[in-house]
Amino acid sequence: MANGWRVKPLDAILATAEKKSLHRSLGALQLTLFGIGCIIGTGIFVLTAAGAQKAGPGLMLAFVIAGAVCVVAALCYAEIAAMVPVAGSAYTYTYSVMGELLAWTVGWALVLEYAIAASAVSVGWSGYFNGTILREFFGITLPPFLSAGPVALGGAPGGFINLPAMVIALLITWLLMIGTSESARVNAVLVAIKIAALTTFIALTLPAIEAANFNPFLPAGMFGGFGSGIGAVGAAATIFFAYVGFDAVSTAAEETKNPQRNVPIGLIGSLAICTIFYVLVAAGAIGTIGGQPIMGPNGVPFPAGSEELARQCALPEYREMLVCSNEALAHVLRNIGFSGIGNALGIAAFLALPSVILILLFGQTRIFFVMSRDGLLPEGLSKVHPKWKTPYVVTAITGVVVAFAAAFLPVGQLADIANAGTLYAFFMVAIAVMLLRRRDPQRPRKFRVPALWLVGPLTVGGTLFLFLNLPGEAMMVLPIWTAIGLLIYFLYGYRMSHLGRGLVEVHEPELHDIEPSIPGLDERA
Ligand code: ALA
Repeated sequence: MANGWRVKPLDAILATAEKKSLHRSLGALQLTLFGIGCIIGTGIFVLTAAGAQKAGPGLMLAFVIAGAVCVVAALCYAEIAAMVPVAGSAYTYTYSVMGELLAWTVGWALVLEYAIAASAVSVGWSGYFNGTILREFFGITLPPFLSAGPVALGGAPGGFINLPAMVIALLITWLLMIGTSESARVNAVLVAIKIAALTTFIALTLPAIEAANFNPFLPAGMFGGFGSGIGAVGAAATIFFAYVGFDAVSTAAEETKNPQRNVPIGLIGSLAICTIFYVLVAAGAIGTIGGQPIMGPNGVPFPAGSEELARQCALPEYREMLVCSNEALAHVLRNIGFSGIGNALGIAAFLALPSVILILLFGQTRIFFVMSRDGLLPEGLSKVHPKWKTPYVVTAITGVVVAFAAAFLPVGQLADIANAGTLYAFFMVAIAVMLLRRRDPQRPRKFRVPALWLVGPLTVGGTLFLFLNLPGEAMMVLPIWTAIGLLIYFLYGYRMSHLGRGLVEVHEPELHDIEPSIPGLDERA
């Protein structure tokens, strides 16, 4: 076998996991709440605007399509997470099934999922901070050069840097470095705030819906063509972001009572609840103020996050459109006469989104940590701070990169890039689950995907399909990013890999020190 296909023995991974003392016992409800805490964020509160620009009222369908792909992917995640219950998520699973080289590409792609998603949520938060907190409450309007990235990168005219997005990303990084986590109780409160905000939104908008706003239902068609990023499936590929984060539930599998029952309930339950909310919110937003895209000269919507769209949105006749708003849901409520409640919803987003950034950044540092423990990244990165007990070096580096991306790129493009990485990881996880069933059918599985030979191929096909419907540039980021990753692997990881150097036994992760601090599940607080 070529050296790059080194496979980390599953038993070695499991031995590591067994050493870990498990003292949590999550039930289905806690797991579902944890899932919702990770899932609801910028996707629904902000990207609704970008989704409408791609699909118009077909955005409702887009939420269903993306949700369906997530459900099958979630089942695959559940099986492998319950079987290989260690940190590192899709990266570790791939290492044990398909070997080091592919595991490296997955870990590397997960940077896009977690780090770039954290950037996207930071930019989403900045929309609500600028609109609700600064403008509505303090009457301050930040000049465009401080509130948006440069137009050349899809920002607003006159934009240069998105200062609030950068600051929130750095602030959360600092909190993580000094060991701040989030208790299950705080998570439950934030979940309640988000659910209350969305429920209020639905209750106020649904009665005000006008059927005419849904016509035409698919102004950009069902398929805009692969790589176009428009049409209902183009919107599904973007709005997939609204579901990202449910994989965190599977990483909590080892701390769950009766995982065979509770993990799938937690995963499917949180996804199902979010899908229902999302479809109703999309119906309420579009049905009240309308959600038709701004069309270009050839009858095709201007790309979301593009310079052309930013210029159109600066025109007085388009300024109030859903597709131009940076705080879509608050904007809708203000436009239908509920200014005060719109502002309250803005505050809910302002309070709740930082916790999503925290969870994503935490996930990222965790993956880097495990990769450097495996010798694939320099070990200095995984240094744990003596007092804070956190991997502070890798956290700081990640945070700076996240803040930089948040400062200069628009939310829709960041979300699309994050989706590309996430879809690749889900794709590989589904393959790993199927391979492992074939190769090692006897190994005990705490959770088995029902009808795997249907669900597995559906996940592979669904993730590939959504990937191909991302805008071309976002799609291209993945191969370019992977090529950079492979270069690093062959220049560094290939030689330094602990597994390659026969060091599997000696580098048992010291994750135990920092493990009991999954944000949203922290017991210490
Ligand atoms: N699903 C998360 C969000 O929408 C990442 O913010």
